[in-house]
This record gives sequence, structure tokens and C-alpha cells, in this order.
Amino acid sequence: MKNAEEKLSKLNKDLAKAKTFFLDNIKDIDSPIHIYTHLDADGLSSGAILGKALYRERLPFQITVLRQLEKSEIQSLSNKIKDNNGFLFFCDLGSGQYLELQKNLIINKKFTSFLILDHHLPQDISNKEEIDSINEIHRNTSPWHINPYFFDIDGSKEISAAGLCYYFSKCLNSQNLDLSPIAIVGAIGDIQNQYTNKSFQGLNSLILEDAKNSGLIEVVNDLNFSALRPINEAIAYSNEIKLPGLTNNAAKTLVFLKTLGILIENTEGSVKTLNELNQDEKQKISSAIIEYASLKLDLEPSNIINKLIINRYILREEITHSELHDAREFSYLLNACGRTYNASLGIAIAMGDRKKIYKQSKEVRQNYRKLLHESLFWIENKEKIQQKEYIQYFFGENVIPENIIGTITSILIFQNIQGIDKSKPIFGLAKRKDENVYKVSGRAHEKIVKKGVNLSEAIREACIHLNLDVLGGGHPPAAGTKIPVDTVESFLENCNLAIQNQLKHIKS
Ligand code: C5P
Repeated sequence: MKNAEEKLSKLNKDLAKAKTFFLDNIKDIDSPIHIYTHLDADGLSSGAILGKALYRERLPFQITVLRQLEKSEIQSLSNKIKDNNGFLFFCDLGSGQYLELQKNLIINKKFTSFLILDHHLPQDISNKEEIDSINEIHRNTSPWHINPYFFDIDGSKEISAAGLCYYFSKCLNSQNLDLSPIAIVGAIGDIQNQYTNKSFQGLNSLILEDAKNSGLIEVVNDLNFSALRPINEAIAYSNEIKLPGLTNNAAKTLVFLKTLGILIENTEGSVKTLNELNQDEKQKISSAIIEYASLKLDLEPSNIINKLIINRYILREEITHSELHDAREFSYLLNACGRTYNASLGIAIAMGDRKKIYKQSKEVRQNYRKLLHESLFWIENKEKIQQKEYIQYFFGENVIPENIIGTITSILIFQNIQGIDKSKPIFGLAKRKDENVYKVSGRAHEKIVKKGVNLSEAIREACIHLNLDVLGGGHPPAAGTKIPVDTVESFLENCNLAIQNQLKHIKS
């Protein structure tokens, strides 16, 4: 923790400079402050945190949610700038495009009033070990660029964009401490609670301390199933815990649960959710699953417990057992909004709306869940995964749209989906409706990232090799880009070669 505190104190020094820069630059603005953010749960959380912080300062603002900060987007943004009387925030995007922003805004338009708060590797940096280059970017882009890698903080694991926006907001006004739960929601959205039993490390754990100390979050142990679905369905359709004979069979799972002698129905006669079960009932289910899994899967009970029992982050101010009570479900809801063209609902909810908009979002969430299930079912049953020697890939065809290709690719590699080889990265490709391009999402399991696989680097290399004038990048385990449709075969072959080289390089 001490290490994290030291890193935070360095980050805070830069945030203090960024705050002064921000306050100096907004003295004479004559238009609302414009926040550009990404459409996923971390992006929406980031936008909401900044929005709330500006609202508190009585500063007018507007938020635009983008699928990515592409070159064309930066160009049109630059074209819109007429004078220097505005201020822009880029959160959860911007670092991977900082040179483009510098060229199009600062150099071409002499526009300097913007701030990047992003946790992705900066443009042209493939690896956090490139310390000299990272330090140089830090020097050259201060004070308008805040990025965790400047302080030896791993942006893919230790802090999300929502965390950076939280620390910036807290620097602006200590009252913004109450935005810490949303920073946790953002970090969960980016799967940063990836340590034992879904715990956090680094700056995320300091943010969690803020939230716990102010009584806003409570961490409890619970079973690793959806808390909101009927328990038999939650177990049968879990993507993380696979139980032969029960998985994908809700009826059989119900019979299994009934044999435990638990009163499985609520007063309305429907099957209880995890939320409706008491501690005793949960304990019975947990023991039965451990026994079942150790017999059927020949696993050590301790391995099963590690998967089965998780930290649940409870937002204490939310209505008990609502979607927003559990940070994981909250984050799921935001993702559902962002990825189904309902980003404004997600932003409003993360900023505190609990009325009409929140009610509307329930349907969005249900449709999103259905879309994910149908997509995964289609991939598994129609055997859509194709293989090269070092990578695997699939096309979304007319089933999986661009906005969820990344989510599906993540589920395939990070959860226990049959037929997926975790020793190879996976690439999902979805044809963009309005352009002749594929959106590409790459994901790699932690075990091969540890061996040296870096998708951000592989994707950038493939783009450079093919002379593609596109921006690509992200993190070692999760990266993306877009490519012209007719380059797809050579793009995938170049990714295959890049991964082969990364693995060879490590072995030698
Ligand atoms: O789009 P997708 O979800 O596949 O992106 C994976 C990660 O890579 C995300 O964190 C995203 O923000 C990042 N990314 C990026 N630059 C791009 C495309 C994706 O930094 N051009």
C-alpha cells in the first residue's frame, strides 16, 4: 500500500498543476466545458464523475460519448474550434491519440485549453517498460496530459479512467470524495478487480479505502453468481463457473438446488435470486457446489472456492438489492447503456438519476443481456471461431454489431467458454454499418500476457506494416483498431506474425 501511496502523491502533484491549468483556462470561456468520453462503463463513469464535479462548481458542461477518438473525429473537432474560448476534457481516451490532438489542436489551431485524463498507453508506446520514452512524453505534454504510466502506475490494472477523473475531481473539491463509488464502478467495468476473489490493487485499492472510510461502500463475501437472476438460472448461465450437467440447464439446476432442502421459492412463487437467499441458504449452496465440482471436475476445493467466493462491492446508499446496490451490476448496467446507443441514460444514472431514466434503463439492460447470450450461443453453436497458428479470430457477421464485439471478445477469453483456446489471443471483427471498415477488438488472457503477449503492440505493428492511416492501441491484454475491409486477411496474418515474434522474443 505504501508504494501505491507514494505513486498517488506523485500523481496528485501533476493533478494540482492540471487543476491550476484548468482554472486559469476557464476564466474567460463563453461556451460550456465539453467532456469527450468513451462508451463503456469506465468511460461513462468518467464522464459522470467529471460532470458531477463541474456541476458542483456551477460550471456549465456537455458530454459527448464516442466509440473511439478516431482521426476523423479529431479532425472534425479541430474544424469546430473557432477561437480559444472553450475547454475540452478527454477521458478514457486521448492518450493513444495525444500526438494527433497536439497536431490538430495545439499546432494547427493554437488551441491549448484541453486536458486528457486517460489510462491507456500513450500513442507510439507499446510497453510500460519504455520508461525513457514515457518520461519524455510526460515532460512534453505537461500539464495537459495526465496518464498513470507517467508515475509507474499500470493503467490496465491499478487505475481506470474513472479513477483518474475521481482524483482530479477530488483535487478540485474535497467534497468529491463521494464520487469514489463511481470510480470503483468504472474500474470494475474495465475488469481491474482481477486479483484474488475479485479484489483490487494499487490506486484502485486506495480509492476503495476512500469509499469504505466514508461509509459509501461495504465489501462483503458472496457467491460468484448474478445476484439478480433466479438462482437456478444464475448458476446454469454463469460464464465463469462451469458445472458439467448443470451449466446451460436451468431446469436440472433447479432440481439440484431442491435436493439441498432449501426453500427455493419466494412469496410470489418464483425462484429466489441470490439476493433473496439468507446466509444459511447461501452456505448450503456453496458447500454443495464445492462438492459437486470437486467430484465432476476433479478440482481441489481451494481452487473452486477461489472462483466461487468473491468480494461484492455494495454501494450502501443505493436501494438494497437494486441493480445499483452491487457495483458489478451497476457497471453492467452502464455497459448495457453505452453499448446499445443509450449512453446518455448511463451518464444520468451514474450522476445520480434514480427516477424515470433509471426505470427506462431496466429494459435496456434486459435487451443487452439477451443480445450477449444470443451472440455467445451463435458463436458456440455455429463454430464461428477460426484458427491461425498463433491467434484465433471470428467475424460478427450480421449477428454481433460493432458496439458489442469488444464485450463478446472479452467474455470469450476471460470467462470459461467452451472451444476457446486461452493460450492464443482472440480477435473479434465487426463490419461497421456506415463505413467499409471492420472494427477489430483483440483480447489476450493474463497467462499469455505474462509470457510477453502485447496486443496493443501487435495491432499497432500490423497497422504500420500495412501502411494503414488509423489509430490503434489500448492495453497489452485488450486493444482495438479499425481496418479497411479489403485488408482484413493481411491484417490478421500480420497479427499472427507479431504474436509469434512476441513469444519467440520472450523465449530467447
Ligand atoms: O474497442 P475495444 O473494446 O476492443 O478496445 C480495447 C481497449 O483498447 C479499450 O480500452 C479501448 O479504449 C482501447 N483502444 C484504444 N485505441 C483504439 C481502439 C481501442 O486505445 N484505437
